[in-house]
Amino acid sequence: MKLLFVGAEALPFASTGGLADVLGSLPAALKREKGDDLDIRVVLPLYQSIGEKYRGKMEKVTEFFVQLSWRNQYCGLYSYDLDGVTYYFIDNQYYFSRGSLYGNFDDGERFAFFSMAVMEMLPKIGFFPDVLHAHDWQSALTVIYLRTKYNWMKEYREIRTVYTIHNIDYQGIYDMNILGDVFGLSDYEHSIVEYNGMINLTKGAIVCCDKLTTVSQRYAEEIQMDYFASGLQHILRMYSGKVMGIVNGIDVDYYNPETDPVIFENYTAETVAEGKAANKAELQKQFSLPESPDTPVIAMVSRLASHKGFDLVKYAIEKLLTRDVQFVLLGTGESELEVFFENLQKRYPEKVSILLAYNKDISKQIYAGADIFLMPSKSEPCGLAQMIASRYGTVPIVREVGGLYDTIHAYNPETGEGNGITFCTYDALDMLDACLRAIDLYDDPEQWETLRDNAMNMDFSWAVSAKKYLEMYQNL
Ligand code: GLC
Repeated sequence: MKLLFVGAEALPFASTGGLADVLGSLPAALKREKGDDLDIRVVLPLYQSIGEKYRGKMEKVTEFFVQLSWRNQYCGLYSYDLDGVTYYFIDNQYYFSRGSLYGNFDDGERFAFFSMAVMEMLPKIGFFPDVLHAHDWQSALTVIYLRTKYNWMKEYREIRTVYTIHNIDYQGIYDMNILGDVFGLSDYEHSIVEYNGMINLTKGAIVCCDKLTTVSQRYAEEIQMDYFASGLQHILRMYSGKVMGIVNGIDVDYYNPETDPVIFENYTAETVAEGKAANKAELQKQFSLPESPDTPVIAMVSRLASHKGFDLVKYAIEKLLTRDVQFVLLGTGESELEVFFENLQKRYPEKVSILLAYNKDISKQIYAGADIFLMPSKSEPCGLAQMIASRYGTVPIVREVGGLYDTIHAYNPETGEGNGITFCTYDALDMLDACLRAIDLYDDPEQWETLRDNAMNMDFSWAVSAKKYLEMYQNL
């Protein structure tokens, strides 16, 4: 089987969120399952931020020009092999030598170029995949171009396509008047991408793909509901026969407290009590909080975006801080939230410590050092942090939504079953109640040990989900 993944970020090369974790670990997991019977390749933009460590070892495959609308742009193609997976990089300095991965005024044009370059590279590398698997709106145009512009050629027509929505809040929406000029689509193709009078690249991919997946079963149902669909519910209901949910796994080697080189002291499920104590003391030191071994540390590692549940946190945090707790936050995002947490830290320097940054190593030190991990998302396609936290023996508190619902089950002190604390309604006092329940359990060492063991012993590896993906590719 030949597979091509297309996306905008993948670890270890470029990362701003969970998408990079998935594109950095699922391909290798598929390869582990299927071995030599699978030829899997991944294609990404060659961003400026991809350092010499990788660039130095890349091989130049070829170069060609990409015609899109009236633009004729250079495209260099590089490759890099990692864990049995070939990664390709699309080079064009005008588009990808920018300070950040996204957030430029011409993101639409940048990813249109990227998608068209992916189409054009296939005959140049002599690789026509059986399945092209595109991830999120930045690569939606590969699915659209394949059917609108390349379908007349047999090699392209035979490619089956999967489009995965990692977060429906980001759709790639543009003004209709750039349809031809930027995306190179004609008036006849207008109806494929048009939604609510705008160009909507996610909608176009939903129409054109053979199979639409999302990153948990619960989210696959939710995106067909008005509350969660960010306006796309109508089109998703129309195409619900294509929709399927497969929950993400995590890279259990990269996130492994037993071997993780960036945490202060390594530990296993057997030595978690001592390991956690050491990492916690170090975390408190690093975050300038009083070194208090018995005070529960509640942590958040998250994009500062309101759908991650920060409305609830803002409302309830001061009530929570009346208890003996410490609160640690790592993340960047909406400036209003950044300011809120900066002020909170100033007012509660003994209890609150924040770091406005996106940093993988520090995030792992937090997973290792905290006791409780808070994820009160309003919506959550899958969520990886609750699984990573569990792996480091940090008990998650989650709202029962999307992938959080699929992966975390409420702890029952009577039976000792369950791997976290949950609440259902998007309500600040319900979240507060869940936090207080967690603190009460923390104060009961026997209960806490059971709950923490349950969390830590969950199998969140890719093995099961990789099999589901392979079955889907096979069916296609
Ligand atoms: C997005 C989603 C997150 C998911 C990740 C990987 O970042 O918000 O829930 O886990 O993609 O699929």
